[in-house]
Amino acid sequence: MAFLPSWVYVLVGCFSASSVGASDLSDMEPTLWKESPGQFSDYRVENGKYLIDPWNYTKRMGMYKILLNQTARYFEKFAPENEQNILWGLPLQYGWQYRTGRLADPTGRTDCGSASGDPLCVSVDSWWADLNYFLSSLPFLAAVDSGIMGISSDQVMLLPPPKDQMRFCYDVSSCRSSFHETMNKWNAFYQYLQTPSSNFDDLLKYLWIAHTSTLEDTFKSFEDRCGYYSKPEERFERNWVVAVEYLAALSFPTTLIRSYKFQKGLPPRVLLKTDVVPFISDFTAFQNIVLFALNVLNKLDKLIG
Ligand SMILES: *[C@@H]1O[C@H](CO)[C@@H](O)[C@H](O)[C@H]1NC(C)=O
Ligand SMILES: *[C@@H]1O[C@H](CO)[C@@H](O)[C@H](O)[C@H]1NC(C)=O
Repeated sequence: MAFLPSWVYVLVGCFSASSVGASDLSDMEPTLWKESPGQFSDYRVENGKYLIDPWNYTKRMGMYKILLNQTARYFEKFAPENEQNILWGLPLQYGWQYRTGRLADPTGRTDCGSASGDPLCVSVDSWWADLNYFLSSLPFLAAVDSGIMGISSDQVMLLPPPKDQMRFCYDVSSCRSSFHETMNKWNAFYQYLQTPSSNFDDLLKYLWIAHTSTLEDTFKSFEDRCGYYSKPEERFERNWVVAVEYLAALSFPTTLIRSYKFQKGLPPRVLLKTDVVPFISDFTAFQNIVLFALNVLNKLDKLIG
């Protein structure tokens, strides 16, 4: 990632310029946002701990909802209605993964996440769900650890998936010990957030540093999942990880409106082996162009290292 080709800026410009269509902010909220838990008391309590099942779509979404709620006060100075909260990008991406079938079991061995089976089930075999696990649990637990969530660090615990339990961490102390540096980066973001003089651009920098660090820590552990997908989807997954580095380098502002518009360019379903980029007939021209551009970006990235 030695330099950013100028067309990357043009592409990001496209994302921002594409028309919104929705005028109401609540239309841009992630899928099933209203149905998701919005406070700790919506979760089960056992031995003085809130138990959250992140393998249930709305329950994992609830972690984001509490996070957005508890951080809203720090973004009031930028715009009303929490629109400028840059944490919106995370739940919006998670909602897109759900809507497009990416949280379902890609092996087809279970009906986890399938419309006819258990639609709210989040599959531990889904590559998207596994990486999102860390992009939801680490920012959430670091926020608890930073003291901005109104509960203490030992008061919350996440429930394990049905298998591969050793690959995950479940509470503030175990996530801190497995992902020390990354948790520190999330903590640094929340520390800066609480600074009265915090500015928007620096907030974005802190956020993207923590985000990319989370992916770097976890991406390799789930490479085995890529094999469950069609070649085009697998390629998209690998391209996506590279694309996120570029979004980070550009400090893409992950506010509600900007994230919502950005998603118009993302594939609306899991890619099939018969899909040929950029000629996928049920995708918009914009979605085809984005997939094509991501292929080029990845090739270029490999070339320039
Ligand atoms: C946060 O949640 C509380 C309780 O659910 C709600 O009354 C309040 O409006 C929320 N605040 C924001 C900014 O979303
Ligand atoms: C997810 O949680 C909702 C709300 O508690 C519940 O109705 C649903 O059955 C759960 N689904 C799964 C797969 O855990």
